[in-house]
Amino acid sequence: MKKIGIIGAGGIARAHATALSTIKNAELVGVYDINQQNAESFVKTFGGKTYEKADELIDASEGVIVASPNFCHKEHALQALAKHKHVLCEKPMAISLEEASIMKDTAERSDVRASMGFNYRYLSYVNILKSLIINNELGNILSIKVHFKKNSAIRRKKFTWRDDANSKKTSGSLGDLGIHLIDLVWYLFESDFIPESVRAKMNTNVKTKEDKQVLVDDYAEIYGQLKNKVFVNIITSKCSVPEDCGFSIEVVGHKKEFKYHTGNPHVYKLIDGLNVADCSVPQSLLNDPPNEFYGWADSFRSELINWIESTQKEWVEIPSFHDGLRSQKVLEMFFEKDCDSQTRSALAVN
Ligand SMILES: NC(=O)c1ccc[n+]([C@@H]2O[C@H](COP(=O)([O-])OP(=O)(O)OC[C@H]3O[C@@H](n4cnc5c(N)ncnc54)[C@H](O)[C@@H]3O)[C@@H](O)[C@H]2O)c1
Repeated sequence: MKKIGIIGAGGIARAHATALSTIKNAELVGVYDINQQNAESFVKTFGGKTYEKADELIDASEGVIVASPNFCHKEHALQALAKHKHVLCEKPMAISLEEASIMKDTAERSDVRASMGFNYRYLSYVNILKSLIINNELGNILSIKVHFKKNSAIRRKKFTWRDDANSKKTSGSLGDLGIHLIDLVWYLFESDFIPESVRAKMNTNVKTKEDKQVLVDDYAEIYGQLKNKVFVNIITSKCSVPEDCGFSIEVVGHKKEFKYHTGNPHVYKLIDGLNVADCSVPQSLLNDPPNEFYGWADSFRSELINWIESTQKEWVEIPSFHDGLRSQKVLEMFFEKDCDSQTRSALAVN
């Protein structure tokens, strides 16, 4: 696969196009966006053509990146699959389990590679952690804390699709950021949550934007246990103070503890009792945009390389639509477990 088209010419399309421009033998065909201005400004920077219809872009492409808002993923992914084109669908997979199930079933019946945009799997420090776990260097794992804190709900003053109810809460902090963390917990441990163990709290701190009510959470905290007994704590936030912002993972094993925080991007710590070893994180290739954390831009590059390679080599593994559906189920369970129903009742009004 060489020719790649993108549906949706917003922020994340730019991360994909930047990464694509660094990959040999890959070519950006162009974009389709309902907002022609966005499409035109995009091709001015990244090249390729603007297409007036999604179908026309899909026809011209061998693979399609679905980078439209969450409530469009099902329609766009199915359009591309119907035309036998490889798909890379941004997260979260869809806005409901029903949609995600249809997408997964359609992908499994198709003859193409349908990948989920779980790019955090490709972060170098995540892969270092995965090797440490697999090689039993941390020992039996007791717990994982994975936190992702931003301040975008405070910085972004405009009311957008992320703030309304069209994406059924999947565009709030838990759906938007937490879906990556849900996938990472699976990627690292391949074990499901024990539903009865899960407690969740979601909150909307920035309640209005442009005089409209924000109908999604901007803070969520989850506690639960996996079937393999590992305790999990997930925190997602879009309303943190600057000094708290960043992505962090801590894993406690019976032998050693692993700690990483993007605030100290080049080092992860391996802790053995009182001994703390500072270990190096590999240098990234691409520069990260402002407000994104270390290794973010590179993770899109690795994701694209892997997806493209998977279309040529059957044995190359990708985060599949099966993985997308699994994470969607966990997300939906977390929504149900939210003990503070303010976001739910706000949605019910609409
Ligand atoms: N992998 C990641 O780390 C990551 C990060 C940010 C966003 N995302 C995901 O990427 C997707 C897009 O997010 P974004 O931040 O780029 O949003 P955005 O608002 O910046 O861009 C969305 C674009 O889609 C266009 N659009 C809206 N409806 C459309 C339709 N029906 N057909 C075609 N285009 C349409 C809009 O005009 C806009 O240009 C979301 O699903 C989001 O969750 C992933």
